[in-house]
Amino acid sequence: MVPTDSLTRRRFAHAVALTGAAACVGCTASDGNLDVLSADHEVLLSEHAGLANVGESVLIDAGTLRPIAVTRIDAETFEVTGTECSHQNCGVTRSGGGWRCPCHGAVFTLEGARTSGPAPQGLTVYDWMLDGDVLTILAP
Ligand code: FES
Repeated sequence: MVPTDSLTRRRFAHAVALTGAAACVGCTASDGNLDVLSADHEVLLSEHAGLANVGESVLIDAGTLRPIAVTRIDAETFEVTGTECSHQNCGVTRSGGGWRCPCHGAVFTLEGARTSGPAPQGLTVYDWMLDGDVLTILAP
């Protein structure tokens, strides 16, 4: 027969395991927030040759674990998104007119909206301001 205190420990361990599992219900891999800015970030457009061309994207090292993507739409318009897939945190890459996750195939529009694949949500989307050569990516 198992001693009572041993059963108690076992039940306690089971309860802890259940509590831990319950705490993760609804969690997504995006909870890692690998591409979320904690402060505004300025980008000098002239330092990124790719941003001279409409339709091109440049990955900006803004101090986040995954870079921030800036895409020039026209002379004064940009799309600015994170590059972390919300499924399991992989980094997305440009694919045609949007973004694709190389890990399990999630596809996103250039604006960051999810169009297919296992990602539960789109990419992080940033507001921005343009002042001459300075594009300021606004922290959420
Ligand atoms: S990590 Fe992107 S689709 Fe799975």
